[in-house]
Amino acid sequence: MHTITIAVDGHSSTGKSTLAKQLADYIGYIYVDTGAMYRAITLFALRAGFVVEGKLQADKLINVLADITIAFQKNSEGKAEVYLNGENVEKQIRTLAVSEQVSPVATISEVRSKLVEQQRNMGEGQGIVMDGRDIGTVVFPDAQLKVFMTASSKVRAQRRYDELRGRGDEITFDQVLENIQERDYIDSTREDSPLRQAKDAIVIDNSDMNLEDQFHVLLQLAKDRIAGRI
Ligand code: DC
Repeated sequence: MHTITIAVDGHSSTGKSTLAKQLADYIGYIYVDTGAMYRAITLFALRAGFVVEGKLQADKLINVLADITIAFQKNSEGKAEVYLNGENVEKQIRTLAVSEQVSPVATISEVRSKLVEQQRNMGEGQGIVMDGRDIGTVVFPDAQLKVFMTASSKVRAQRRYDELRGRGDEITFDQVLENIQERDYIDSTREDSPLRQAKDAIVIDNSDMNLEDQFHVLLQLAKDRIAGRI
């Protein structure tokens, strides 16, 4: 059976990763969480002291970009985890400190071109589900299936808040909501590859949908495209 490229883009905390991964597992495709790559570079910048008084020193990061290696490796349960220069940083990239700096890092063109090149190589010649912000518009503009996921910012903040609290983070709902709204703003207004819905993307607004319903919608779309029906 021929394989296709599936691009899942959308706003922060819409559950894109969960859904994209579930689909990839089900149809036996590779899954790539590109947000994890931007987060890993952000973690590097934080650790290197390139964020001073909350402000990112982009020039310093650009200067050392060539020395940063991002890779994915499966853990014992088969889940792909992100590695920064050989270190597993899957947990460290999910903190609020990283979330607060990742959008400024993602505005840097040098960062984007480095990661986009790596992402394109990952998709070569195999079935892939990739999620992010610019997958259907920039990374794989010819993807056979493009999905754009969205939900109201309150619903997204509640989901993220529950997740962070569940992990024991001391955080308020308002902090989470503010972070989500700020990331939406930066992601969609940046000059290089802003978050946009591709013209040929199918929108899934999951404000009032459970995971099972979303999965069925996505799976049907994928099956149709794989069979060449649409
Ligand atoms: O999907 P996420 O929330 O983990 O993504 C983190 C940030 O990375 C997000 O605020 C925007 C940026 N990003 C991007 O600019 N392009 C991508 N393809 C993926 C993520």
